[in-house]
Amino acid sequence: MTVSVVVPGSFDPITLGHLDIVRRACERFDHVTVAVLENPRKQGLFSVDERLQLIRAVVGEIDNLAVERFEGLLVDFCRAHDIGIICKGLRAVSDFEYELQMAQMNRRIGGIETVFMSTSPEHSYLSSSLVKEVARYGGPLDGTVPDVVADALRDKFAAAGG
Ligand code: PNS
Repeated sequence: MTVSVVVPGSFDPITLGHLDIVRRACERFDHVTVAVLENPRKQGLFSVDERLQLIRAVVGEIDNLAVERFEGLLVDFCRAHDIGIICKGLRAVSDFEYELQMAQMNRRIGGIETVFMSTSPEHSYLSSSLVKEVARYGGPLDGTVPDVVADALRDKFAAAGG
């Protein structure tokens, strides 16, 4: 049996924490799709095209990995791509409450199971929002995002005038 999973998220932008989960998922499942949410109600720092480009640049060539965008419900994306499992990283207990609600809803409305991977301890404090905050004020980004993402963040805030 082939086990296909989706690693969904906003990825605005991808962090080393996300990357760790994606790589570990690729080692354990037959096929992994990273799915980037296109949310018309929430404008990100990076466009969805930019996020996809950054993700593709940092994951490189992994045979069992695809990177896609999606709109609407994640369960509909899963159904359309014949994916039965959502794979998410859990950083801390504070993540759990909301993640559990989403997992239960996704099972209820789409019959899709969610598996959680514990984030590696060195990444457990990381979030895209915090990284953007540090980048906005010119703080150091080493150990938080891949170099190509750090460069893109610096360019973005330089273009925006800081
Ligand atoms: O990186 P994020 O912002 O925490 O990711 C959240 C995401 C994209 C996984 C979640 O918001 C999502 O799946 N959105 C799509 C709409 C949907 O299916 N909502 C969940 C119903 S329980």
